[in-house]
Amino acid sequence: MSVREIRHPLVQHKLSLLRDKDISTRSFRELTGEIGSLLTYEATADLELEEYTVESWIGPTAGQRIKGKKITVVPILRAGLGMLDGVLSMVPSAKVSVVGLYRDEETLQPVTYFEKMASDIDQRMALIVDPMLATGGSMLACIDMLKAAGCEQIRALVLVAAPEGIRLIEEKHPDVELYTAAIDERLNDQGYIVPGLGDAGDKIFGTR
Ligand code: URA
Repeated sequence: MSVREIRHPLVQHKLSLLRDKDISTRSFRELTGEIGSLLTYEATADLELEEYTVESWIGPTAGQRIKGKKITVVPILRAGLGMLDGVLSMVPSAKVSVVGLYRDEETLQPVTYFEKMASDIDQRMALIVDPMLATGGSMLACIDMLKAAGCEQIRALVLVAAPEGIRLIEEKHPDVELYTAAIDERLNDQGYIVPGLGDAGDKIFGTR
């Protein structure tokens, strides 16, 4: 897996605001969406273009449009929904494929409780969105599901990644590209990223 930590000043500024322990639900939600947009901008920078003729006000004019695979955005429930609108603001025609996973408390393995993929997912590039790449278990399960459905080009967008999660995805899916606003230090005993953001799902939904 190739990993790109996006050091753009806007991303780093917004991420630092997200780390503030006193941030409001409203600000956390807004900033999560905004960073989602900026990560999408970076993750789509190499999309191929083709030329076509635009019938402009002054007559035929050379234009360019995105060629090749269309996109499906894949939010992992629930926290991934927090990035969805921001991502769609950059790729408004993308289809959305939703994956719901929870962790079985006994086996500690991710269990799928919802899966609804775009019907033509084998023809699309997937942009998985989930704010926190912690152990990597959910991301791994989601990538496995996408590949089983025939999806061949997968990129993952996260706000913060832990080295443990990066290592797991690198080992299992070296072809997947990761875009993150930060690579943090480590996981703590409860599986939270340090310094991280705390529970991103709770902060997005105001349930903390
Ligand atoms: N999920 C979160 O919301 N935060 C973490 O730090 C790890 C997983």
